[in-house]
Amino acid sequence: MTIVTQTWRRGTSITSGWDFTVKHRAVAMVYTYLAFGSDYRRWYADLAAVRNQIQGAAVLDVPCGGGAVFGHLSGTAPRRYIGADVSPAMLALAGKAAEKASIQNLELVECDVVTMPYDAEFDLCLSYMGLHCMPDPAGAIAAMARAVRPGGVVRGSTVIIGAGWRSDRFVSLWQRRGIFADVYSKNDLRQWLVTAGLNAITIECSGAIAYFSATKPARG
Ligand SMILES: C[S@@+](CC[C@H](N)C(=O)[O-])C[C@H]1O[C@@H](n2cnc3c(N)ncnc32)[C@H](O)[C@@H]1O
Repeated sequence: MTIVTQTWRRGTSITSGWDFTVKHRAVAMVYTYLAFGSDYRRWYADLAAVRNQIQGAAVLDVPCGGGAVFGHLSGTAPRRYIGADVSPAMLALAGKAAEKASIQNLELVECDVVTMPYDAEFDLCLSYMGLHCMPDPAGAIAAMARAVRPGGVVRGSTVIIGAGWRSDRFVSLWQRRGIFADVYSKNDLRQWLVTAGLNAITIECSGAIAYFSATKPARG
């Protein structure tokens, strides 16, 4: 198991610090602007769109981390909502977030994204701010593409390199602290989505955070 996966599995003050940051809007706005030159309102806009799509849908949220997304989807009624993550420490936080949010049919699952046991069964896969923490992001995207049904959508965000010296320095800092894996470019992200067989690909960058969406082709 890689050091980055071990760090997330174990949990540290930095991993729980991320969860605190992302769950406090003002802190998240300041941190993502200073570290990644990014306007985090882009994420809130994404979640508002997701909120309108999940009524009656089967949703996979991977990595769900400490359940940062749950609060934004509170009061919704998906048919099935799986929050999956490799980290027992983050899933413990997600459990608390799940108690506060009232999302119907929510279940938490500990698993590695690359080996998760899902096959063509979700309408939507959400993957926010996770790929840059994973040792095999291309394999992760392939597994997400496998998990959604034909016509299903994979959408999320990730930190990328090459957006500016300051964000690249933050990437190096978090790599030295063992919470970021190798971090790639926007072009690499596009290539993973294409290789996974997804189409209708959009990638929009806000500073060094790339927001992506892609669809699994319908059969036939
Ligand atoms: C920065 S957090 C993002 C979590 C959440 N989506 C959010 O926005 O707060 C990254 C998460 O990726 C998870 N993770 C890292 N490698 C993973 C893997 N191979 N499979 C599943 N989860 C993984 C970590 O445990 C952590 O919870």
